[in-house]
Amino acid sequence: MIYLKTDEEIEILRENNLLVSATLAEVGRHVKAGVSTLELDRIAEEFIRSHGAEPSFLGYEGYPNTLCVSVNEQIVHGIPSAKTILKDGDIVSVDCGTFMKGFCGDSAYTFAVGQISSEWEKLLNVTKEALYKGVAQAKAGNRIGDIGNAVQEHAEKHGYSVVRELVGHGLGRKMHEDPQVPNYGARGRGPLLKKGMVICIEPMINMGSREVVFERDGWTVRTRDHKPAAHFEFAVAITEHGGPDVLTDFGIIERALKN
Ligand code: MF3
Ligand code: CO
Repeated sequence: MIYLKTDEEIEILRENNLLVSATLAEVGRHVKAGVSTLELDRIAEEFIRSHGAEPSFLGYEGYPNTLCVSVNEQIVHGIPSAKTILKDGDIVSVDCGTFMKGFCGDSAYTFAVGQISSEWEKLLNVTKEALYKGVAQAKAGNRIGDIGNAVQEHAEKHGYSVVRELVGHGLGRKMHEDPQVPNYGARGRGPLLKKGMVICIEPMINMGSREVVFERDGWTVRTRDHKPAAHFEFAVAITEHGGPDVLTDFGIIERALKN
């Protein structure tokens, strides 16, 4: 069941997603060699609570933390740990969610730790571009398959592969609502996009094969071939005539990284 949101509800969703963006910016400032992923989690939890919201991942189906922090071959849902220390050349996906005023925020960004190889830099850039190509399809009258098709086409054009086991989703009072938003698919297929729908588009793109392994911690998903993966996530509202209304702001994150 797809819940359409009123303009007022979309503004609350925007507030949540801007807080997620600000949290990711704050985390991004601390992404450095020598920092543990648990330290990043503490920073995020403190930041979210001090802004009057709650971390929505914490306790979700028993999830133990505020962030999912996934390093290199880890694709998503990495559990923060004092033992996981970032090092120069790593890439790290930070996925963050909030709950405030009855609605959720959910976005993710993959950061470079210090200097990364140009090969890995390209994976980050192409994955972010794939997200933007998907977002450009998020307009009334299109279908969910148009989004996945655009993401997949861009990733595969560069020789990368698209994870199938995990998908994007509707966002609202719950973090995971209908419809599912795959990062692959055929143009013109799937649910019709309508004004008031809010969806999370979150490509998970592997440098090597698309096969994944679910780790025995019950959460972490990694590439089977141990090659790196990247992950970026936007929350987007579908408008009647205008283009996609992106509720997430990567600008605040990228400005924070420049300083
Ligand atoms: N943010 C993830 C998603 O985009 C969900 C995180 S799983 C959780 O769907 F358990 F950590 F919440
Ligand atoms: Co999500």
